[in-house]
Amino acid sequence: MSTLALTGIGELSTQDPELGVLHDAALVVEAGRVAWVGPSRQAPAADAAYDLGGRAVVPGFVDSHSHLMFAGDRAEEFAARMTGTPYSAGGIRTTVAATRAASDEQLAANLARLVDEMRRQGTTTVEVKSGYGLTVADEARALAIARQVTDETTFLGAHVVPPEHADDPAAYVDLVTGPMLEACAPHARWVDVFCERGAFDEDQARTILQAGAAKGLRGRLHANQLGPGPGVRLACELGLMAVDHCTYLSDEDVSALVETGTTATLLPGVEFSTRSPYPDARRLLDAGVHVAIASDCNPGSCYTSSMPLCIALAVREMGMSPAEALAAATTGGARALDRSDVGHLGVGARADLAVLDAPSYLHLAYRPGVPLVAQTWVAGRRT
Ligand code: NIG
Ligand code: FE
Repeated sequence: MSTLALTGIGELSTQDPELGVLHDAALVVEAGRVAWVGPSRQAPAADAAYDLGGRAVVPGFVDSHSHLMFAGDRAEEFAARMTGTPYSAGGIRTTVAATRAASDEQLAANLARLVDEMRRQGTTTVEVKSGYGLTVADEARALAIARQVTDETTFLGAHVVPPEHADDPAAYVDLVTGPMLEACAPHARWVDVFCERGAFDEDQARTILQAGAAKGLRGRLHANQLGPGPGVRLACELGLMAVDHCTYLSDEDVSALVETGTTATLLPGVEFSTRSPYPDARRLLDAGVHVAIASDCNPGSCYTSSMPLCIALAVREMGMSPAEALAAATTGGARALDRSDVGHLGVGARADLAVLDAPSYLHLAYRPGVPLVAQTWVAGRRT
């Protein structure tokens, strides 16, 4: 098996608790994994070498929450929001209509475009949800297409109640937990529910997550985004890996997160794009909650694919230090997906990295909006 040494790393943020941040470092890749990492002068001989010219390197970002299976956009809705119309869950139905009308090829092409956009901004692991099909066939095809690009696929049939079931939401929950789950489970690793006023309530969410678990899907939850609610405590009660949004939290919610170790995934692009108050990341970190940052890339509440932007927002608007924000965007996301092979660059990790045209990872927050990611490597290959 041949080895490749990545040399000339000015600053290497490993996100490995033992190694921390190294200066003038090298990293040796073998079979797509990190085989050695440390100071340049101690680097072992390798079959080939690639010089990174003194740039900073961070682990590839782990974006643990996105909705990339859709067609169309909602730029007009965004424009209306910026002149005062509040965000509501109902906008999802606009995208449902466009997604149902799209061909498989159009959905696959839009997904590929967005994944490529993410790659160019340093994301190397991405979770992708369904949720804009909301029929058995449309949800199943969304997940089958998503599976072609990532193992982290999430069945979100419970995004909103579609218009044809508006009179009978209970019948829609039966569809989601019955035939839709049956058709989607083979293509999904996770099941998710939008637990919020205007979407699904606590009992419905519990029913759907339990039905998913019975089919081997692990749960995650959209909760406490638009107002206080029971979702975060439900996620903790069910022992989920992650609960996402967490914008409105009571002290009891925070205590439950601490107790169960459920990761709170914060999505600052949503608050930015809906002009809403940001979640209090400082409160969570100070209490000892595991925090992740993800993009939530979707055509409604947040149409950014940029993890560097989310890091900058987390630092500027949510009271996180640059080091905390980078950790949340790498190891935090990995924890939210229960993955130990990504999000860090310790020995044995998948060799996923973002090479920055900057001397330090600090520039991710210090230089918002600047395309700093010069190269992205996945499993030891430059993409
Ligand atoms: O995570 N909250 C629910 N789903 C998305 C928004 C979807 C949409 O507006 O289309 C979210 O913000
Ligand atoms: Fe979401």
